[in-house]
Amino acid sequence: MRFIKEAIFAPHTTGAIAPSSKHLARVIVDKAGVDGAARILEIGPGTGVFTEHILEMKQAGAHFVAIERNPNFATDLKSRFPDTRIVEGCATELRAHAAEHKFHEADSIVSGLPWTIFDPNLQRNILGGIHDVLGKSGTFATFAYFGSHWLPGGRNFRRLLRSVFPNTRTSPVVLRNFPPAFVYYCRK
Ligand SMILES: C[S@@+](CC[C@H](N)C(=O)[O-])C[C@H]1O[C@@H](n2cnc3c(N)ncnc32)[C@H](O)[C@@H]1O
Repeated sequence: MRFIKEAIFAPHTTGAIAPSSKHLARVIVDKAGVDGAARILEIGPGTGVFTEHILEMKQAGAHFVAIERNPNFATDLKSRFPDTRIVEGCATELRAHAAEHKFHEADSIVSGLPWTIFDPNLQRNILGGIHDVLGKSGTFATFAYFGSHWLPGGRNFRRLLRSVFPNTRTSPVVLRNFPPAFVYYCRK
């Protein structure tokens, strides 16, 4: 219910019509290498589908921070996951958040951000911050809806992603997601 409400009232930041499925959560968390990570960052958790699976898969002592821009989502996440560091903040300020919440040199970054509704400058700005806070052998994973990568916005994002992270791979398409989606996973 919360997701539908935010999709209607905050379309410029929500950027989706439905939350991701548990199937997509499993693939993105696996590709991001969460299970072997000491420092984990999630960006754009929304209603917490990926968050829940990160909490299931992460090692007991791992440091985990999630950054959500929408105050309504952030408030719900804080009450649902009281032991998790949920920061109400913007992905454009990643370097400052990393300094404050100690997730620089992150081993694993999971993004639910709606890249195709961001303009190219914003995409570049946020990807630059992700590159800076990701550790040398860390993995960054994000998803795209199948088909969107053929449209101009999706094609431009893919090009930009590969220019920032030349070592970018894609997962098989996850059909049990609405709409079907795949994961980009990237290393430096
Ligand atoms: C498509 S929803 C994904 C939610 C969830 N991860 C999922 O897959 O169901 C995008 C999320 O990114 C958040 N978001 C958008 N722009 C953001 C920004 N600049 N910084 C942090 N979060 C942002 C939105 O508020 C929303 O929760």
